[in-house]
Amino acid sequence: PKVFYTQPGGAVKVIDGAVGDSVMSTAVKNGVKGIVGQCGGTLSCATCHVYVDRAELKYFPDPTEDEDDMLECTASDRADNSRLSCQLTLADGVDLHVTVPDEQV
Ligand code: FES
Repeated sequence: PKVFYTQPGGAVKVIDGAVGDSVMSTAVKNGVKGIVGQCGGTLSCATCHVYVDRAELKYFPDPTEDEDDMLECTASDRADNSRLSCQLTLADGVDLHVTVPDEQV
């Protein structure tokens, strides 16, 4: 599946990801700017914050309580489509569009 990462300036980076990887690890592996993933996906940093295309939120289960708590600690403002990308798993045949926030740390 492809992940389209829109940078704060509007540039889009398209990555061919692997099923089962997260949106965070796909970004880090491929050098997508603005997704840090400091804690490695253990829900203790909030530096993997992204805004998910609203039509695609349905592909993911609602945030767990731990993710919800960490979403209160993001460097850029939380929005109704904010998620922590380490919690978003790529699935077969599901392309995703996410926007990277202005600030991550
Ligand atoms: Fe740290 Fe997602 S990588 S919370």
